[in-house]
Formats: sequence, C-alpha cells, structure tokens
Amino acid sequence: MSAQTLSLPPHGVLDPATAPPLRWGVISPGSIAEQFTATMHRATASRVVAVASRSQDRADAFAAKHGIEAAFAGPEAMLAAGGLDAVYIASPHAQHHELARPVLEAGVPVLVEKAFTLNESQARDLLDLAQQRGVFAMEAMWARFLPQYGLLRAVISEGLIGEVIQVEADHGQAFPEAPAHRLYAPELGGGALLDLGVYPLSLAQMLLGDLQDPAIRGELTATGVDAFAGVVARGERGGWAVVSTTLRARTANRAVIAGTRGRVVLPSPFYAPGDVEVVLDDGRTASWSHPGDVDDGMAFEIAEAARCITAGESQSALMTWKDTLSVMHTMDAVRSALGVTYPGEAH
Ligand SMILES: NC(=O)c1ccc[n+]([C@@H]2O[C@H](COP(=O)([O-])OP(=O)(O)OC[C@H]3O[C@@H](n4cnc5c(N)ncnc54)[C@H](OP(=O)(O)O)[C@@H]3O)[C@@H](O)[C@H]2O)c1
Repeated sequence: MSAQTLSLPPHGVLDPATAPPLRWGVISPGSIAEQFTATMHRATASRVVAVASRSQDRADAFAAKHGIEAAFAGPEAMLAAGGLDAVYIASPHAQHHELARPVLEAGVPVLVEKAFTLNESQARDLLDLAQQRGVFAMEAMWARFLPQYGLLRAVISEGLIGEVIQVEADHGQAFPEAPAHRLYAPELGGGALLDLGVYPLSLAQMLLGDLQDPAIRGELTATGVDAFAGVVARGERGGWAVVSTTLRARTANRAVIAGTRGRVVLPSPFYAPGDVEVVLDDGRTASWSHPGDVDDGMAFEIAEAARCITAGESQSALMTWKDTLSVMHTMDAVRSALGVTYPGEAH
C-alpha cells in the first residue's frame, strides 16, 4: 500500500521579525549570551543595549563585539542606569535566582535561561515576586516557542494522532568527566538533569500536564551530580512520559509522541529547529521542515517575550509560571531520588 500524504494544520507561530522592538540588558555574557545576542540582532527588531559581567573587561569585549552601547561590571550598575525594557539572565543555573531577583525588584521584565532555578523553592520565590510586582518573567525554554512545537501542539489538539499515550524523549550529550566544568560542578548546578533533562521533561509536561508519582533511576558522577537519570511518570491529563538524560553519551536526542491513531516524531535534536514527521495508523504520513534559518531558533523566544511584555502580560501562555514550577517540582523529585543536593540546599 503506498503512503497517502496528510495535510498538516498551521503551526501558528508568528515571524520573529514582526515582534515589537525592545531594549534588552544581558547579565553573564558567556556562550549562550553570545548566541542570544547575535540571533536577536540578526532576526528580530530588538537590540541588546547593555551588558553586565563580573568583569568590566569581559563586559567591554562583549559590548564591542555586538555593538552594545553600555557595558557594566555587575548587574547593579546596569539596573541603576535604567532604560531597559527587559533583562536576559545567562549565568549557570546556580546564579539564576540571585541575579534575577534584583531585576524583578527593580520592576524590569526578566527572561531567565533554563533551568529556571536550582529548585522549585527558588523558582516560587522569583515568580511570587513577579506576581507581587506585576512584572513579566519567563523561563527561556526556547524549544517551546519554535514553529515545530507549535505544529506538534496543533497536530495533537486537532486529534490527528488521537489520545496521547506515550511521550518518549531523551537528551544525552558526551561531556568528558572534568570536575571544573559547570556540568560536573555541584556549585554551578551541574548534572545532566537541569541542563539537558529539562528539555524532555518540559516537552512531556507541555503535552501531558504535571508528571505524577515518577519512577526514577540513575547514577551519579564522582562529583556527586547526576550522570544519568531515567523517569517514567503518568501525566495529569493522561498518557505516560518516558524520559532519560545523560552526560556520558550522545543519545538519539529524539522525541516520539505516540497516540491511539498515530505518532509524531521530532528527529534529532528534537529541541532545536528541525523536522517533524507525522505517521498515522491509517497509512497517511506527512513531513515538515523548519521554515527559516536553523541558527535563528532563539529568535522565537525573544519575540514571544517582546510580544508579552509589550501587551502588559506578566507570563507567556506557551511557558507559564505553572509550567516552570511543575518541571522544577519533577526535577526536585528526581534529584531527591538520586541523592543530588546542591550547596546551600537542605539535605
Ligand atoms: N537555550 C540554550 O540552548 C542553552 C544552551 C546552553 C546553555 N544554556 C543555559 O544558559 C546558562 C549558561 O550556560 P553557558 O553555557 O552560556 O555557561 P557559561 O558560558 O559557562 O557561563 C555563562 C556566564 O556566566 C557567568 N558566570 C560563570 N560562573 C559564574 C558564577 N559562579 N557566578 C556568576 N556568574 C557566573 C560568566 O560571565 P561573567 O564572568 O562575564 O559574568 C559566564 O561567561 C545555563 O543556565 C544553561 O543551562 C542554554
């Protein structure tokens, strides 16, 4: 039997170039801040106009490279100078809470890299503050804003694959065991889970709701952070998540969402701009590819933040505060089961 082509619904994601232009400040100009700034300047009307580093030299170098007006040795000076519509926090996870708090206290909208914080309690503290001040806050889970995730949501909400029974996703990368590397360092929030596992967990939470009563297995590195974590859990809206993450091997990095009438496959890497394949049990199939430059994937989260902030919204419907808290709650449960505790956390 030859496969019949299936027509897919629109992904519903707007062109990032059409989002309102905002004036951004960046805190912690490391590798992801580079990508964020370059993407913003290439693919959106927003501009980074200020940067804050722990070192004036690094702030100056970043500013010179990206044509940024102002460079500061520390976020306090940047916030005191004012004139910002939003701030992006790009430090390692362990510093997200302490760096985002003063931004919210200053009443400035904030976009915080994933994982949003080290744990649920820090996330709740930031989001309570955002609510009290009526200020926008969002986890920079960039995958959620990509057209392929929009298409995935549309395929499921139109019932094309039926009831979702299983969300299977893995994120593994091979990082040589180096105690000083941020992924192996407990003081920088190391481990596979918060850096890599957050992607499949966030995908499963988006599709199934809160993950309930997870079964958890894994093992630790010599530095005491998670080297491997596997999670099987039922979602509050039904269906099962089967998720794994590791620092020790480059896994397939694929997501397969299987329903009662067919499946959606997001081939490797499922969390970055790429392809979508839909295979229905009745023989119909469809393939779709990311419509723009795959290097500009972060533009979609930048645009979503700009639209929400300009509209006076304090959270995005695509990555709500409840979603962030739910994923942080699951990650706390995983770390508790595996015995991963970060400095400053209660044992
Ligand atoms: N969205 C994505 O695709 C993606 C990809 C990679 C990483 N990330 C996330 O982005 C964040 C940063 O990752 P990265 O790979 O960019 O890290 P990185 O390059 O190692 O560090 C980012 C910057 O944070 C500052 N920093 C480092 N250690 C610090 C400390 N102890 N206290 C305060 N600031 C410190 C440094 O800037 P200064 O010293 O100049 O202040 C550093 O350049 C992580 O949360 C990660 O999960 C996201």
